[in-house]
Amino acid sequence: MKLAVLKERRDGETRVAASPDTVKKLKGLGLDVVVVAGAGAGARMADADYQAAGATIAADDTAALDGADIVLGVRAPDAAEIAKMKKGAVLAALLAPYTDKETPAKLAAQGVDAFAMEFLPRISRAQAMDVLSSQANLAGYKAVIDAAAQFGRAMPMMMTAAGTIAPARVLVMGVGVAGLQAIATARRLGAIVSATDVRPATKEQVESLGGTFVAVMDDEFKNAQTAGGYAKEMSAEYQAKQAALIAETIKKQDIIITTALIPGRKAPVLVSEEMVKTMKPGSVIVDLAAEQGGNCPLTVAGEVVERHGVTLMGYTNLPGRLAVDSSSLYARNLLNFVTLIVDKKTGALALNWDDEIVKGAGVTRGGEVVHPALKG
Ligand code: NAI
Repeated sequence: MKLAVLKERRDGETRVAASPDTVKKLKGLGLDVVVVAGAGAGARMADADYQAAGATIAADDTAALDGADIVLGVRAPDAAEIAKMKKGAVLAALLAPYTDKETPAKLAAQGVDAFAMEFLPRISRAQAMDVLSSQANLAGYKAVIDAAAQFGRAMPMMMTAAGTIAPARVLVMGVGVAGLQAIATARRLGAIVSATDVRPATKEQVESLGGTFVAVMDDEFKNAQTAGGYAKEMSAEYQAKQAALIAETIKKQDIIITTALIPGRKAPVLVSEEMVKTMKPGSVIVDLAAEQGGNCPLTVAGEVVERHGVTLMGYTNLPGRLAVDSSSLYARNLLNFVTLIVDKKTGALALNWDDEIVKGAGVTRGGEVVHPALKG
């Protein structure tokens, strides 16, 4: 069986879906691995290293996709790439299925069985394939590093002969995987960290990392988590109460990292323009929800802007700013997924649609869009 690794075409996408390390393991599964020339350039993974690991380098996507049974990508393939995929091929990539409805339709029409890695169920068996976690973790780290680099002051308290420097105050809004890493990173840099989330389970996690938890803890808060572990959309009443508490907290912050997301919805607004105005000049906001509309309405997706003396960083691909590590982990996640769908003895595709993971991530099957979240 042939497995093709695509070269990402989107502007600014530096990541790649396989590393020399995972190529070796894919070969070990009995697969012929073909990598499009230059696919790893943005992640410092050279064609020669893929070759040394056992891959063949294809001059272009036409050659790579010709007869490929499995196709790996970071982002969704474009129409030209989809048209080159064979009927019955399997694709695994980040398909942004909630915002991009056209790609699944095109993939279905082409007869490709596509898997959106964002849809993997958050169960323990799928943890090693969990791309959202591997990428969000690095995004949370990089958000703090970016903020610290922009901030015109130091992060830790410093007692020097010339006087004492006060530690920076960092507020993390949204304590999922990215938020937890942001808290840990800001603490390691010596900042005073507080954090907020609507899921009650996060209070203990924040405190165990040395942060202070800030939230209105009423009955609605106590029930704000879905069975799948995600946040629910909060009532207008709760949001108003929480906003009042947060407004007081924000005035005292130097750096805010926002990561709040609700799957399939526009990101909730947590930092209003009025709140930004109350911040000290030189403060920094990193808005990790920029691509989903932003947790602050002043954020400009993909840009760094200054508003009311506050710098707003709206990078839309923070993992891509750490392309070596994010690619290595993403490639590992995909390797683990491929291992699940390939028969180890025969090296043939073995898609078990009764498997929770296969079913959960599958968006197209046999010419149809099949994922319940994308139908109707
Ligand atoms: P996410 O990226 O969907 O959202 C980030 C955070 O924003 C979440 O903590 C969410 O509660 C919070 N949020 C949403 N609306 C908010 C609001 N109005 N105000 C403040 N915060 C708000 O989350 P992520 O990182 O994907 O994690 C989701 C869940 O999945 C978590 O419970 C996490 O622990 C769990 N998980 C489970 C795994 C497993 O294998 N069992 C693996 C990874 C995550």
